[in-house]
Amino acid sequence: MSGAPFRIAVLASGAGSNLQAILDTLHEGPEGVVVAAVASDKPDARALERAQAVGLPTASFPLADHPDRAARDAALADWVAGHDVRLVVLAGYMALLTPAFLQRFPQAIVNVHPALLPAFPGLDAVGQALAHGVKVFGVTVHFVDEGVDTGPIILQRALELPHARTREDVLGELHAVEHELLPAAIRLIARGAVTLDPADPRRVRLEP
Ligand code: GRF
Repeated sequence: MSGAPFRIAVLASGAGSNLQAILDTLHEGPEGVVVAAVASDKPDARALERAQAVGLPTASFPLADHPDRAARDAALADWVAGHDVRLVVLAGYMALLTPAFLQRFPQAIVNVHPALLPAFPGLDAVGQALAHGVKVFGVTVHFVDEGVDTGPIILQRALELPHARTREDVLGELHAVEHELLPAAIRLIARGAVTLDPADPRRVRLEP
């Protein structure tokens, strides 16, 4: 690829398998995407170890180290912006970002959610779906707005699991879908193929 690298930051609270998928399939690859920084709200997140293992800058911003969420997110936003990124990727980041954080990165924050939104937003989406008895599960990658998993949808993929009974039945299969769909969305954004329809900002246009 020609031109400047497309620098992204990843925020993650947990195991970081989605971060790993980004590192394995996109980072420093031919599309020019570079993971420039990885941050967490949890100092012991395995995601931070995965980033450090490939020499990336990391930082953690636990709420307990700051007077309140606004101050925590201001520090987080300063750190992320200091790495000169064009996209912030929430890959299992479990804290709700403040409106002030969102305003620092307009239309440049994406999240991966383990359900077919608008069904089952928020915590334990797979548990919610199982309790509802669904036969079709899925993954959504969407822009982040001020609601909980309510932003414009970029990519979705459904997965039929009519016999699933437990979270374990579902999560392994959904993770495999996430590990393709999140890098795919980032790749499209880096290529400039993702725009919001000015006539209907809920609608995300994807160039073929
Ligand atoms: C994923 O299932 C994602 O959809 C949800 O949190 C989980 C993170 O998993 N938001 P990992 O930390 O990337 O392994």
